[in-house]
Amino acid sequence: MPAHGAVDGRLTGMDGRDLVRSVRMVRAVGPAQGLRSVRSAWRRRRADALALPRRGAERARVPGEASGAEPQPGGGVIRFARSSLRVRVAAGGAVFCGWDGAGPEPSYALAGACPEVDARAVLEPDTEGGWRVVSERVLVVVSRFGAVEVRTPGGAVLRRELPPRWWDRTEPAGMAEQEGAAREEGGRPEGAVASRWVQRSEVAADARFFGLGGRAGGPRLRDGVYRLWNTDPGGAFGPGDDPLYLTMPVQLVVADAGTHLVFHDNSWDGRVTLREGVEGAGSGHDRPGTCELRMDGGPLRYWVLAGTPARVLLGWTALTGAPALPPRWALGHQHARWGFGSADEVRRVVAGYRERELPLSAVHLDIDHYDGHRVFTVDRERFPDLPGLARELRDEGVRLVSIVDPAVKAEPGNAVYESGAAADAFVRDARGREVRGVVWPGESVFPDFTDARVRKWWGALYAERLAQGFAGVWHDMNEPVSFAAFGEPTLPRSARHDLEGRGGDHREAHNVYGLAMAQAAFEGLCELRPGERPFLFSRSGWAGLQRYGGTWSGDVATGWPGLRASLSLVLGLGLCGVPYSGPDVGGFSAVPSAELYLRWFQLGAYLPLFRTHSALRAGRREPWEYGSEVLEHARAALRERERLLPYFVTLGQLARLSGAPYVRPLWWSAPRDRALRDCEDAFLLGDALLVAPILEAGATGRVVRLPRGRWYDTATGRAHEGPGRVWVDAPLSRIPVLARAGAVVPVAGADGGTELEVWAPAAGRTGGGLVVPDAGDGWRRPAVERFSTRVEAGRVVVERRGGAPVGYPVRVRGLP
Ligand code: GLC
Repeated sequence: MPAHGAVDGRLTGMDGRDLVRSVRMVRAVGPAQGLRSVRSAWRRRRADALALPRRGAERARVPGEASGAEPQPGGGVIRFARSSLRVRVAAGGAVFCGWDGAGPEPSYALAGACPEVDARAVLEPDTEGGWRVVSERVLVVVSRFGAVEVRTPGGAVLRRELPPRWWDRTEPAGMAEQEGAAREEGGRPEGAVASRWVQRSEVAADARFFGLGGRAGGPRLRDGVYRLWNTDPGGAFGPGDDPLYLTMPVQLVVADAGTHLVFHDNSWDGRVTLREGVEGAGSGHDRPGTCELRMDGGPLRYWVLAGTPARVLLGWTALTGAPALPPRWALGHQHARWGFGSADEVRRVVAGYRERELPLSAVHLDIDHYDGHRVFTVDRERFPDLPGLARELRDEGVRLVSIVDPAVKAEPGNAVYESGAAADAFVRDARGREVRGVVWPGESVFPDFTDARVRKWWGALYAERLAQGFAGVWHDMNEPVSFAAFGEPTLPRSARHDLEGRGGDHREAHNVYGLAMAQAAFEGLCELRPGERPFLFSRSGWAGLQRYGGTWSGDVATGWPGLRASLSLVLGLGLCGVPYSGPDVGGFSAVPSAELYLRWFQLGAYLPLFRTHSALRAGRREPWEYGSEVLEHARAALRERERLLPYFVTLGQLARLSGAPYVRPLWWSAPRDRALRDCEDAFLLGDALLVAPILEAGATGRVVRLPRGRWYDTATGRAHEGPGRVWVDAPLSRIPVLARAGAVVPVAGADGGTELEVWAPAAGRTGGGLVVPDAGDGWRRPAVERFSTRVEAGRVVVERRGGAPVGYPVRVRGLP
C-alpha cells in the first residue's frame, strides 16, 4: 500500500528505511512493545522539537589569509584572518592539527594523557606566505589560505586538505561554553558557535580508502557516503547496509606514495563522502581521490599518522591504547544462543559438544536468562542455580559469558533501577526528567556513561555477574538502542549528558556511549577481580574501544552476502585498531543451508572471535544440526583451531604490543602492490598464514591471489610461487590456507604442549617468526621469542635469536 505508507510517512517524518525498520521491529518485539515504541518515538520527537537549538541564521566562514604564526614546542599556531590552526607533532610522529583553537584534549579516543611533543619538530615560514612544520616522519605544509598538505619526508604528497568551511550561528548565552571540546581563542566572531563544518581533502589518484569503523561493504571503501552515527540497522544487515553499530572517523589511506591514517577526533554525527581517483583521467591527467567530511558540530581537529601499515597501527594504538588481551579461552570456539530455554538446555548443548568430541571454550547466555529481560538479574525458574551451572561447566573447561544491555527497566522494585535513580545515574532531558525509551524489558532508562560517577556505579554492578559465575561479558544494544516505530531508534538528540563534567547533549555523546559503557565495565571488572584480565566485547563503540575489549558483527544476515560482509567488518575494524572481532557464524537471521553454515564455520575458525550465534527463530547453530558430513568437516575446523591456539595467543599478544591485527589485508606488508590492495576475498592471519575462505555456493576451489614469495598449500604441501594468482582446491572438507615459506607457526602438539611448525624456506632464502607463550590470566608482561629459519645443505635449520636453545619440538613441512 504505497499511498498509505506515504501519508503515514508525511505525518511521522518516516522515510522508507524507517518504515522497513519499524515493520521489522514490530515483528521482532511483538505488538505490546510495538505500541510502546510508537509512544517512545513520539516522545523523542517532541523532546527534540522543544529542546534542540533551531538552526536559525548561519554565517559561512573560511580561514582567510594567514597573518602570522607563533612557534611552540613540536610545531606552532598559525593565525588566519578568521581562524587559527595549531600543528603539533607528537613524539612517535603523530601530527595533530586543530582549527579554531581546538586542542587534543579532552578526548574519548586518547588513551591517557596527550602524548609528549616532539621538540625537534619546528615551524618555519614557507614560500608564498605559508608555513611548514618539519618533522622526522612527515612534513606539514600550510598554505597562505589554510590548505594543509601532509607529505612524506621525501616530499610526496599523502593528503591535501583544502581550507575548511564553517557555518557559525549565534546562540543564547551559555550555549557556546557547552558545546564541543575545549577551545582556546580562534578567529571566530564573539558569541558564535561553529556548528556545522566541512572539509574536503585530496589523495593520490591510486589511493584506496579503508576503515571508518565496522562497514559491511568494504574492506575497500568504494565511492559513496558513509555516515558517522552508530546505528542498529533494525534487523539483519548485508553489504548494502550503512551505517552499522560501530562507526569511527578513522580512515586508512593506502597509496603508492605511502600509507596514512587520519582520525577526526569529533564524536558528532557526520558524513564522509569518498571518491576514488582515476589515473590518466581526461587528457592524461590524474584525477585525485577525494574525501569530504561534513560534521554537524564539534571541533575540527584531527591526527595524521604516516608510514608503513604496521608503523601506522603502532602509532595509532600508542595514541588510543593497546588492545586488551583476551584470555586464552576466548580464543577458542564459543557457542551463543538467543533462546536457551533453561539451564538443562545449556547442559544438553555442552554435552552435545563433549559427546561428539568437539572443542568448546564458552557458552554465551542471551537476554532470555534474565528475569523479564532485566539486566543484572536471573530467571530463577529456568536457571535455578547459575553459579552451580557455571562451576559444573568450568570443570569441563567451558566458561559462561553473559550478555549485558545498558537499558534498565524503569520500575519500582527493580534494584538496579532504584540504585541508579538514587545515584542520579540516568540520562535526563533538557527539562531534567529521566529519558524513557523502550528496549527488551519494556519501558527503560539509560545510564549516562559519560559521567565518571555513573561509570563507577555501573562497573560495580558486574559483581553480580561474577557472583553468578560468568567469566566474560557481551555488551549489546549500546548504540544505544531505544525501539522507535519511526525516526531514529535511539535517545533524543536533546538528551543531556555529563560529558566528563563539560555538559552537552546526545548529539555529542551518542557515538561514544558504547565506548564509555565498555570503559565502565572494564574498570569495574579490573577492580572486582584484579588478578584477571576482563573478557569483554561490545556491539557499539568508537575510536579506542580496543583498550577495553573487542566487538562482533552484530546481526549479520544469513546468506552468502552476509558471509562476505562479516569478513569485511573484521578486516576494516582491525585497520581501525580493534583487532578482536568475528561474526555470528551461520548468520543471525535465518536458517542457513548446510553448505553456507559450513563455509561460515570454516572462515570463523580463522577469525579471532569464533562464535556461533543466531536469532530466536533462526534455527540452531550446533555443528551436528546440519548432517553428518557437515559435522565431520566442522570437527576438523574446530580441531585445527585448537591446534592453532598457540598461534592465536601469539597474535593476541602481538596485537597488544604493536597494534597489528590478527587478521590483515593481503597488502599489509606490500602496500604498494596494487593488485593486493584491491583483493578483498582473502586475508593474512598474522605473518605466516594466508586464508582464502569460500564465499560462494557450490565452489570446490578458488583462485587465490598471492603476495610475493613461496606459499605452501597447508592441506597438500604443494608450493606456489607469488606474486600471482593460483587455483587452490577447496572441497567441502576445507578452505584454502597457505603458509609462507620460512614461517614459524606455534601449534599445539598431540600432548598439548607447544611445537613449532616450520615451513621450509625456499632455496637461498631465510625466514622466521615470533612466539609469545601464554602467560596465564594475569597481567604479566610476556616474553617474545624470536626464531629464524634457513636452509643449509638441503636441511632446514631453526635457531632461536639470542643463542638460546630452540626449546620446542620442531616439525618441518614443505620442501626447500
Ligand atoms: C541483538 C543482538 C543479538 C542478540 C539479540 C537479543 O539483536 O545483536 O546478538 O541475540 O539482540 O539479545
